[in-house]
Amino acid sequence: MTKVLLLHGINLNMFGKRDPSKYGTVTLTEIDAQMMALGKELGVEVVPFQTNLEGEICERVHQAVRDREDAIVINAGAWTHYSYALGDALEIFKGPIAEVHMSNVHAREEFRHKSVFSRVVMGQISGFGVDSYLLGLRAVVSALRAGEQK
Ligand code: DQA
Repeated sequence: MTKVLLLHGINLNMFGKRDPSKYGTVTLTEIDAQMMALGKELGVEVVPFQTNLEGEICERVHQAVRDREDAIVINAGAWTHYSYALGDALEIFKGPIAEVHMSNVHAREEFRHKSVFSRVVMGQISGFGVDSYLLGLRAVVSALRAGEQK
């Protein structure tokens, strides 16, 4: 079955307790449940993974390469803006990658406007809360169906 890796980076385990004006009150467990439900609808398996350790998320990407997982939806949190290491790990992965953010990063502080993943992801979806994740999943599944590879 087609496998979509759902990666959550640093501090995202605290969704539900973080600034509700930016992130709402939804928890990571609820986001994962919604993503797995949509995955079921779309006929793909969604595999969630969260860590606060940069090396660990890179190793999870390496595993996705080894195991030939099909696509990635990633919200890397603050790593988005400065982790060249995670960007390089993502570059090794050859399936479609959607970068997602709950908040509209372009309407926030300047340092959030830049993503160091732009060169390796298909696109970024930002500002739609949980829908950013759901739209990201739809986007990578549709890319897989179209046989597109980056
Ligand atoms: C975030 C936006 C990032 O700038 C921030 O560091 C986060 C969450 C979002 O989902 O809106 O931790 O990725």
